[in-house]
Amino acid sequence: MLAAEAHDLVKTFDGKTAVDGVSIAVPAGSISGILGPNGAGKTTTIRMMLGIIDPDSGTRRLLGHDRPLEAAHEVGYLPEERGLYPSMPALEAMAFMGALRGLPLAEGRRRGRAVLEENGHADWAARTIRSLSKGQAQTVQIYGSLLHRPKLIVLDEPFSGLDAINQEKLEALIRRQRDQGVTVIFSTHVIAHAERLCDRVAIIAGGRVAFDGRVAEARETLRPIVTLRTRSTDGPWRAALPAEARANGNEWKFELPESGPEPLLRALLDGGAGIETLSIERPGLHDAFIAIAGESAAREMGGAEPGRQAA
Ligand SMILES: Nc1ncnc2c1ncn2[C@@H]1O[C@H](COP(=O)(O)OP(=O)(O)OP(=O)(O)O)[C@@H](O)[C@H]1O
Ligand SMILES: [Mg+2]
Repeated sequence: MLAAEAHDLVKTFDGKTAVDGVSIAVPAGSISGILGPNGAGKTTTIRMMLGIIDPDSGTRRLLGHDRPLEAAHEVGYLPEERGLYPSMPALEAMAFMGALRGLPLAEGRRRGRAVLEENGHADWAARTIRSLSKGQAQTVQIYGSLLHRPKLIVLDEPFSGLDAINQEKLEALIRRQRDQGVTVIFSTHVIAHAERLCDRVAIIAGGRVAFDGRVAEARETLRPIVTLRTRSTDGPWRAALPAEARANGNEWKFELPESGPEPLLRALLDGGAGIETLSIERPGLHDAFIAIAGESAAREMGGAEPGRQAA
């Protein structure tokens, strides 16, 4: 079952296309990431999916509703532009956010107080938003967006501005929500968060979906990298290395040849390389993201594709 889907969304601002035919399918109960360079169209896509703005063309479906705003009471949202009333006490701000999503104020206050206490922030309740730091206010806003116990949570760059400890806490919170059956969608520029958390990622570049699938599938678009240290400096084994292999002393780095590790190992052994250390590792999501987003940018500019081969 899908919690959210977008089909061929297009949005143009002042004659400039911001989103150019984006389709995304988010399975219920999953954690999905939306990645992409600045200006790629992530926020615009999220706003269209939530019904905050209408697409020029294309359709979306949110928790079974063709008109996304009908699902508003079941959706929790952290917008990219944070905004709570500066003069409101934190607990009131949270209860107010819940009320906007249909939660009675008294219940919002009760739940808000409980959440603050559970997280060791009971003292924030009476403090005004103005008196909290940026990261603290953002944390209040994230808690507030969850008070009405939404089925779907959409967080636009929730990690930005949080310190390392609070980033970890937010990762744990997102996992807990997923474990309770909630669907989570978030955008981020820090690929490591997506790599650790996401069941699926969509990479948006230039208003289009450049990749949509599991994290492992994104990584598999890159060939594994061989790092090899040899005792021998020269010999017949050198013929086993691809022409692009780069050396740093007697440490070599190169993409694993198409033929795979076994012929390479055999040639190194038979050729007398004297293997000291050897690792064969698939690059992480960070490298895959740069390759996928970079390739899409190069295509857009009509340039040659960088030398990226499919595994
Ligand atoms: N309300 C608007 N009016 C005019 N142009 C807009 C508007 N909203 C977005 N854009 C333009 O649409 C494009 C996509 O913007 P969007 O905010 O969706 O990108 P993003 O992927 O979220 O970027 P970032 O990583 O910087 O948050 C940009 O070129 C932006 O300038
Ligand atoms: Mg954005």
